[in-house]
Amino acid sequence: MKQTTDFLKMKQNGEKIAVLTAYDFPAAKHAEKSGVDMILVGDSLGMVVLGYDSTIPVTLADMIHHTKAVKRGAERTFIVVDMPFLSYHLSIRDTLLNGAKLIQETGAHAVKVEGAGEVIASIEALTNAGIPVMAHLGLTPQSVGVLGGYKVQGKDAEAARKLIEDAKKCEEAGAFAVVLECVPKQLAKEVSESISIPTIGIGAGIHADGQVLVYHDVLSYGVDRVPKFVKKYAHINEMIEQGIGAYVNEVKNGTFPEEEHSFSMKETELLSLYG
Ligand code: KIV
Ligand code: NA
Repeated sequence: MKQTTDFLKMKQNGEKIAVLTAYDFPAAKHAEKSGVDMILVGDSLGMVVLGYDSTIPVTLADMIHHTKAVKRGAERTFIVVDMPFLSYHLSIRDTLLNGAKLIQETGAHAVKVEGAGEVIASIEALTNAGIPVMAHLGLTPQSVGVLGGYKVQGKDAEAARKLIEDAKKCEEAGAFAVVLECVPKQLAKEVSESISIPTIGIGAGIHADGQVLVYHDVLSYGVDRVPKFVKKYAHINEMIEQGIGAYVNEVKNGTFPEEEHSFSMKETELLSLYG
C-alpha cells in the first residue's frame, strides 16, 4: 500500500498519481483491482449516491458509514475521507475529535478539508495530531453558496496569486497533497511548480501531479449530465437499463425463470403430497 511519502516521491519522479472516488464495497474493489494509487471517499457521495443537490447535507455519520464499506473492499489501498460540511470549522477541538472519529471508526488513512484561511489552522492541528491531511483549493463545493455556483476559480491574476499563496500555506501547515478543482490549466501548472507536495487535479488540466474523478462520472453510472472536465470511460447506465429492461420483459412475458433456474422434487414425493 502506498503511503503519504510515496505520493511525494511519485511527484519527485514525475510519476502521475491516479485517484478515484469510491463510496461502497464493490466500487472500492474495482478501484483497488484497477490499480488506483489512492481512493477518495468524497462527500460527493451526497450527490451521486444519496441524491442531494449539493454536498452540504452530508453528515459525519454518512461519511463513516460509506468509508467503512470502502475499507472492506480495498484493504490494500490508501484511503482519504472527506471531512463533511462544518465538521472542521467550529473549533480545533471539534476538528480533531471529528478527524479522529473518521479515521478510527473507518480505518481510512487521511482526511480531506476544503479551503484555506481559518482552515489552515485545522490542517496544522490534524497533522500534528497524526492525521494526514489532503487540502482542497479552487472550487470548494462545501462553499458553493458563497462562491455563487460551481464555477472555474482563479481566472484573474489576483485570484490566481491568492490560490498559489494558499497552496503554499497548505504545504507549510503539513498537508501531504492538495486537490485543485476547476482552475485554469496554467494556474494548476504554476501551483504544481510552486509547492513540493503533489497537486491532484479535477478540472485542472494536464499539469497537475495527479488526477481525481468521481467513480460515477468516469463510468457514466447513475449520473445524467457530467461536468466538462469529465471523460466517460464506460457507459454503465445503458448496460444497467438494458439488463433490467430485459429482466422485466421476461418476467412479464413468462420466459423467466427457465428450467435451469428452477428446483425440482421427485415425482414420488409429489404424488404423496396429494396423499
Ligand atoms: O467529494 C469529492 O468527490 C471530491 C473530489 C471531487 C475532489 O472532493
Ligand atoms: Na468533496
